[in-house]
Amino acid sequence: MRFIPTLLAAASLLQSVLATPTTTQSDGLWSLYFDHLEGAKYIDLTHTITPYIPVWAGFGNSNFSRAIDPVTGAIYTYATDGFEATAYNFKTDQLGTQLDPPAHWDPYGPSIDELPATVAVRPLVVIDITPEVKKDFGYQMKVSDIHKYESKFGQIPKGSVVFIRSDWSKRWPSLELPLLKKFPGITLEAIKYLHNQRSILFHGHEPLDTDDTPTLVSEDWVLHHGHPQAEGVTNLDQVAQKGCLVNIGYPKLAGGTGGYARYIAICPSDWKHGISPKTFPETPLRKYKYPLLWNDTLSYRIRESEEYA
Ligand SMILES: *[C@@H]1O[C@H](CO)[C@@H](O)[C@H](O)[C@H]1NC(C)=O
Ligand SMILES: *[C@@H]1O[C@H](CO)[C@@H](O)[C@H](O)[C@H]1NC(C)=O
Repeated sequence: MRFIPTLLAAASLLQSVLATPTTTQSDGLWSLYFDHLEGAKYIDLTHTITPYIPVWAGFGNSNFSRAIDPVTGAIYTYATDGFEATAYNFKTDQLGTQLDPPAHWDPYGPSIDELPATVAVRPLVVIDITPEVKKDFGYQMKVSDIHKYESKFGQIPKGSVVFIRSDWSKRWPSLELPLLKKFPGITLEAIKYLHNQRSILFHGHEPLDTDDTPTLVSEDWVLHHGHPQAEGVTNLDQVAQKGCLVNIGYPKLAGGTGGYARYIAICPSDWKHGISPKTFPETPLRKYKYPLLWNDTLSYRIRESEEYA
């Protein structure tokens, strides 16, 4: 009987066609997500930008307003237009949590939109100088602090992002912060060591400047040697000093000499802080009990409470 082998051949062909997508295609990096990142703990290292956060007096405060129809001048509202939008009058791109591109100080260095797509996710190293800062608020991190970190946690990996924990951000958003003459920083020797001896991608600090010298020698060296830097980072007390990753995001503004940034630490699933995609109700996201309303006194939108519905 000829039809039996034909039928069997057809059945096995059908089986192989059905099986193809799961058996022969590689999952690529998806397994990295499902094996590690889905259960990981995510911690935001970013300040919220409002018109009232600390900023260098030389720039002044930014201003939020409601977007208007340029023809009629009418403000768009949920009630009449079905949507609202916001117009931002930022007095500087050096505001809040930032990613400074080299072009902040060096016209020949890349601007924010010229940074490569590879600046996206990295091993995160957190060097804790809070014991020194408690004794001297103007402490500047030294090479010996890097050695101290490495003797405990091993060598700082090439291409990593190194954030310096000082707890300066605990006083945020006190408007006195930019006026302080003393603040925790990093010595020129230490920043050179991180880049030249350890080939880190970039470093970050909690204050809005890199060091307290009159000419900002560390910031000067960083930005004139092709290195970006993070400023105004926060919540470093909630992150493991070794073993987390950092996700790096920023808007791509043409010729931008600063970068409003969002840094999110991704720590192992057994880490005590943070939220996880496995347990946080993120799709759909929960609704709030109170609507977002424009507040004329504050000049931005807030809700009565952050309670969920
Ligand atoms: C903010 O900007 C709006 C729109 O440009 C303007 O009407 C308002 O006066 C500004 N407020 C402040 C405090 O600068
Ligand atoms: C606007 O914000 C101010 C300051 O937080 C608050 O005192 C006031 O009640 C708010 N106004 C409205 C209408 O919610």
